Amino acid sequence: MNTTSDNWLVHDHHQYDAALDDCEMAADVGEWKKAKDLFQKFVTDLKLHMQMEDEVLYPLFIEENGDPDGVIAHLSGEHDYLVHLVSDLAYIIKSNDFDHFLDCLEPLHKAMSQHNNHEEKVFLNMANQSILMRRDEIVERLNAVHDKPGKRVWDF
Ligand SMILES: [Fe+2]
Ligand SMILES: [Fe+2]
Repeated sequence: MNTTSDNWLVHDHHQYDAALDDCEMAADVGEWKKAKDLFQKFVTDLKLHMQMEDEVLYPLFIEENGDPDGVIAHLSGEHDYLVHLVSDLAYIIKSNDFDHFLDCLEPLHKAMSQHNNHEEKVFLNMANQSILMRRDEIVERLNAVHDKPGKRVWDF
């Protein structure tokens, strides 16, 4: 998550799409070592990204606006589903079987894109003046996540 650009709240999700594309391309030509390294990097980055949202941004939006329509709860549920798909892929990628790998990668990529689009809309709607005025404090809290163990359980 790039916390320094003007895009700080609706942060850059494109790198996760690109990472899965790169992973797929490596696997497609049988470069499994490279595919696994790319996947590992994707997982490390995604863990931090989700932790920033789970532990800073989502609670912040609830603090500011409540969650009357349950959208934040819904986004959080989408994170749970993504973790499930990522852990399936972490298991499947070990088999070096491209068809099987693709069967797991495609639903993950689709669910992640949908989640990211959904999240960007929610964040844009919720970014009120009060949140924008707290920018420095929020960026500091986002950066502090780097040094904390995450609360979410990843079973692999
Ligand atoms: Fe998210
Ligand atoms: Fe996100």
